Amino acid sequence: MTNTELIDNLNRALSLELAGMIQYLHHSFLVTGTEREVYRPFFRAQSEEAHAHATMLGDKIVALGGTPTVEPAVIRQSTGLAEMLLQGLELEREALNTYVEAWRSCTDDELPTRFQLEEQIHQEQLHVEELEKLTSERQASVSKERITLRQIS
Ligand SMILES: [Fe+2]
Repeated sequence: MTNTELIDNLNRALSLELAGMIQYLHHSFLVTGTEREVYRPFFRAQSEEAHAHATMLGDKIVALGGTPTVEPAVIRQSTGLAEMLLQGLELEREALNTYVEAWRSCTDDELPTRFQLEEQIHQEQLHVEELEKLTSERQASVSKERITLRQIS
């Protein structure tokens, strides 16, 4: 029996990955200044990874009896690096939530798909964490006392 809820969730993930492919590629075109040296390849690699994820999703959707979407989700544009990174973070968070929803819609007969999604969720979580660090939304807290002790020893 076709699991339409799972296919719908995978198609939502696919639309986000298609948006990621375009958005990150566009950011790699537009990033300027000395940061371009670092962020052009960064955005290019993110776009390629979104392409790989979109490919996996399209193949999986067909395997489950569905039709992959051709509609990307909202594509955000910017010329400022800080805003580009925030837009990437927003997209990755949406993708992570969508993969979790897809995981929830797997039945007990779909364990291999569930395991595949668990690996995907892990990958997306790493993207979110890295972008949270790049936007400084996530920072380590270092105790001043500990720094002092280290300096003494
Ligand atoms: Fe992804």
